[in-house]
Amino acid sequence: MAEPAYALNEPDPSVQELIAARPQLRMDAQAGLMLDGVPLARIAAELGTPAWVYSAETMRTRLHALQDALGGLNADVHYAVKANDHLAVLRIFAAGGAGADVVSEGELRRARQAGIPASHIVFSGVGKTVRELTLAVTEGIAQVNIESPAELDMLSAVASRLGRVMPVVLRINPDVDAGTHAKITTGKADNKFGIPFDDAADLYAYAATLPGIAPVGLALHIGSQILTLAPYRAAYQRAAELVRGLRERGLAVERLDCGGGIGIGYRDEPGASPTGFAGVLRATLGNLGLKLMVEPGRWLVGPAGVLLSEVVLTKGDGRFVVLDAAMNDLIRPAMYDAYHAIVPISPVDALAPVRQSDIVGPICETGDTFARSRRLPAVEAGALVAILDAGAYGAVMSSAYNARPAAPIALVDGDRWTTIRARQSYEALWTNEIVPDFSGG
Ligand code: LLP
Repeated sequence: MAEPAYALNEPDPSVQELIAARPQLRMDAQAGLMLDGVPLARIAAELGTPAWVYSAETMRTRLHALQDALGGLNADVHYAVKANDHLAVLRIFAAGGAGADVVSEGELRRARQAGIPASHIVFSGVGKTVRELTLAVTEGIAQVNIESPAELDMLSAVASRLGRVMPVVLRINPDVDAGTHAKITTGKADNKFGIPFDDAADLYAYAATLPGIAPVGLALHIGSQILTLAPYRAAYQRAAELVRGLRERGLAVERLDCGGGIGIGYRDEPGASPTGFAGVLRATLGNLGLKLMVEPGRWLVGPAGVLLSEVVLTKGDGRFVVLDAAMNDLIRPAMYDAYHAIVPISPVDALAPVRQSDIVGPICETGDTFARSRRLPAVEAGALVAILDAGAYGAVMSSAYNARPAAPIALVDGDRWTTIRARQSYEALWTNEIVPDFSGG
């Protein structure tokens, strides 16, 4: 992992500091931790735990802030559906004027199901199948982001067979280090993503000769949870260089898909600022007359979600706090050593003396750990906690490991809330399973 681009304050920020840094949260002296106008204890009482809760207003506010920052740039937001693909979330972003960046047939179908017009959808990903490309062409989406020569030929064959011409952009790999976790960096030459920078111009010229293909621009996405601007600046400078080179060769370049990756503050580090990001776009790409697209996921939806959980028990004088949520619900700490702030929901618990504990789930793996040596108010069996900033890459990455059903989801809007996904039933865990005669008995 790269060195963090910010200085971490030791010890862990206090509950009060964590809440103060998040405008969607408030600790009410009676009702306890509130997400916008709704006490989280009320939702936990009705839905049980673990349960996800999303704030609609946070999603809207963040989308508008990003759109405002992009003002004057001729730039559209395409929300990266992978971060949180619930239909209600897609509806909120679509209603705010965002399109969608999808990476699979399932995401494309979800985006359409949520009412996002095909003309507002772009299709990214390194291994789109013929079936997926066929759907993209028949739906008539805005563009396919091509990641390899092989994929270009596949799409040309599909589009010609259907008698259509598909707008494409070539995703280039700018060979820039985004300074983020190794598992989520994508713009280095040895990552599987994109077309090597030095091959891109010739492939673009080749694309212009192919039936069924209209090359209209370039794309790049250098990684995720990027907190500094320098990697963006370097990548967009390279893209601008390529745009000029292609135009000198007489090739039209109209669009640049600038990718996503804008980071958020998970602890007390500041998140990336949309105005800073937009400033880099303006400085590097502003005078090229391009239609720009940005495809953030995490920045729009991460801070909007929490995962509610109950303490099952504590062990070893509080050395371990065992929750009823686990890595099957939220895998980010296990997978990326990601930091997620954890705060008690009760106003009384929030004032308890601070204790250092490992906050773990009940799954039979040591990796099922949400936080190691975390200093937080001592919570005991029965206490409720909220794991913060879990709106992105939370529920979408859940599994049913240890036969744990998918947790329910609630959506808060102002002072009202509603269930937007029921808890999965146990029967649903095996409903698609077939027990053949020869398996015994
Ligand atoms: N565009 C493309 C082509 C992408 O691959 C991604 C994310 C995005 C946009 C959106 O990136 P964002 O703005 O959300 O950073 N599961 C990991 C993150 C994986 C990101 C994959 N690609 C995590 O939990 O940190």
